[in-house]
Amino acid sequence: MDLPFDGGISRYFTEDAPADVRDAVKAAGKGDIINPAYPYQDRWKRSEYEAELAALQIELVRMQAWARETGRRIAVVFEGRDAAGKGGTIKRLRENLNPRGAKLVALSKPTDVEAAQWYFQRYIAHLPAKGEITIFDRSWYNRGVVEHVFGFCTPEQRERWFAQVPEFEDMLVHEGITLVKIWLNVGRATQLKRFLDREKDPLKQWKLSWIDVEGLSKWDAYTAAIAETLERTHTAHAPWTIVRSDDKRRARVQVIRHLLGQLDYPMKDETAVTPTDDKILGGPDLWHG
Ligand code: ADP
Ligand code: AMP
Ligand code: MLT
Repeated sequence: MDLPFDGGISRYFTEDAPADVRDAVKAAGKGDIINPAYPYQDRWKRSEYEAELAALQIELVRMQAWARETGRRIAVVFEGRDAAGKGGTIKRLRENLNPRGAKLVALSKPTDVEAAQWYFQRYIAHLPAKGEITIFDRSWYNRGVVEHVFGFCTPEQRERWFAQVPEFEDMLVHEGITLVKIWLNVGRATQLKRFLDREKDPLKQWKLSWIDVEGLSKWDAYTAAIAETLERTHTAHAPWTIVRSDDKRRARVQVIRHLLGQLDYPMKDETAVTPTDDKILGGPDLWHG
């Protein structure tokens, strides 16, 4: 069988991973939280998670009905390191929505034509129309982080991008688009454990790419690029929300609550959408490399 790649993660794990990270991954039992900086010791109980998520699904459906009726335009940007949990969170977010009005945009690397265009151009084509919720699984923020870390853009291109992001997002917001920017944060051992799990699982191997394998030894370069990006693109009109995602269950519920909290739809069940947990959801201060 033609697998997307051949064990790069295991090799890194046995040969190159930092000792503390390797020890944490080795010692981890199923479902353990293995980021020492994460504020909870154990992952959230499944029964509580499922009950909260079920209540939030109903809220999401109400919210979408309102968005369609009133012609709201909502754009949600998901960013975070590889294996931060973007895909799983987005899946829960869209599960019960009408797919026609809840679009997912997960663009691959730019084609030659796209690379010759204004950087934002291909994203603009996907912005929500009236009544739509558009979810970006990675976004124009590629230029701040992965493109920089891998040298896919020049320093001049990145600087121009940094100058344009606030103006670009300002335009979206003034146009009436609700823009919600979520940055999922995971620790290094959490990321490595998830990669190893993906490598073993035939249903998840597609999630791994050479970028993930090469990226393992670029942790610190990612850290610096993310810190700079957060600092320079956290603006009053388009702020970042950081969600610590070492426990996927807590993260998913917090993200959905936060999103619903930004939207003023009728019949909101406040008990379902509050409280948010400021130990795992907050501004850029909550982010740690
Ligand atoms: P993902 O994490 O989205 O599954 P990857 O980890 O393989 O995918 O890649 C991370 C991001 O880097 C993707 O958004 C991809 O489009 C982008 N990327 C990959 N190669 C290039 C390239 N040559 N130039 C610009 N962007 C790229
Ligand atoms: P899953 O995506 O649920 O199949 O889980 C993939 C990997 O993540 C497995 O190693 C799980 O042990 C781990 N995992 C699952 N749920 C959580 C969670 N809530 N918090 C942290 N790790 C988890
Ligand atoms: C995920 O866990 O879905 C990730 O954040 C996507 C990825 O690995 O790039």
